[in-house]
Amino acid sequence: MTRRGYTICMTGLSGAGKSTLAVAVRDRMLALGVPHVPVLDGDIVRKHISRGLGFSRADRDENIRRIAIVARMLVDDGVPNIVAAISPYRNIRRQARDAIGEFVEVFVRCPLEICAGRDVKGLYAKAFTGEIAHFTGVSDPYEAPQSPEIDTARLSADVAADTIVAHLVLQGLLPVAAAA
Ligand code: ADX
Repeated sequence: MTRRGYTICMTGLSGAGKSTLAVAVRDRMLALGVPHVPVLDGDIVRKHISRGLGFSRADRDENIRRIAIVARMLVDDGVPNIVAAISPYRNIRRQARDAIGEFVEVFVRCPLEICAGRDVKGLYAKAFTGEIAHFTGVSDPYEAPQSPEIDTARLSADVAADTIVAHLVLQGLLPVAAAA
């Protein structure tokens, strides 16, 4: 099987479903015979390689820069990988795309009201009262992608995952034999 490295970058608000979608895509890729699909998830990365970073623009950009370095190393070794981080700033996403080379941007589009309504981690409630400052979408910006390879608007997680896999096949990033 050909081994082509690339990064699928899921960007979107907290609670938009980035991690869920990342796992759904990873599972499909594994089922199609890709041996390893590491997921670089913001929540997890922030516990080790980005420990100590906060949520200022500089710290968020540094977080994404570090993630992009790891993603690039994996790509250079032929390992497809998935990044799931809010990554709210267009400029650093562009830099990550340029640094990584093979880059599939997925805008995990979910309205703020829905993310805040779910509030899985209870963070939106704190953001609205001001207990947490600089919260993306509430008191901090989110710059939506202008031309992502995939926009999940109105797609269920399953359909979005299938759409991403179909895109990978069309781009020659998943061997057709594996997807047959
Ligand atoms: S990023 O902006 O640097 O890309 P990242 O994806 O790593 O963010 O981490 C986001 C997660 O950190 C959120 O899902 C949430 O659980 C938590 N978090 C804590 N404070 C904030 C904040 N001020 N804004 C956004 N997310 C926050």
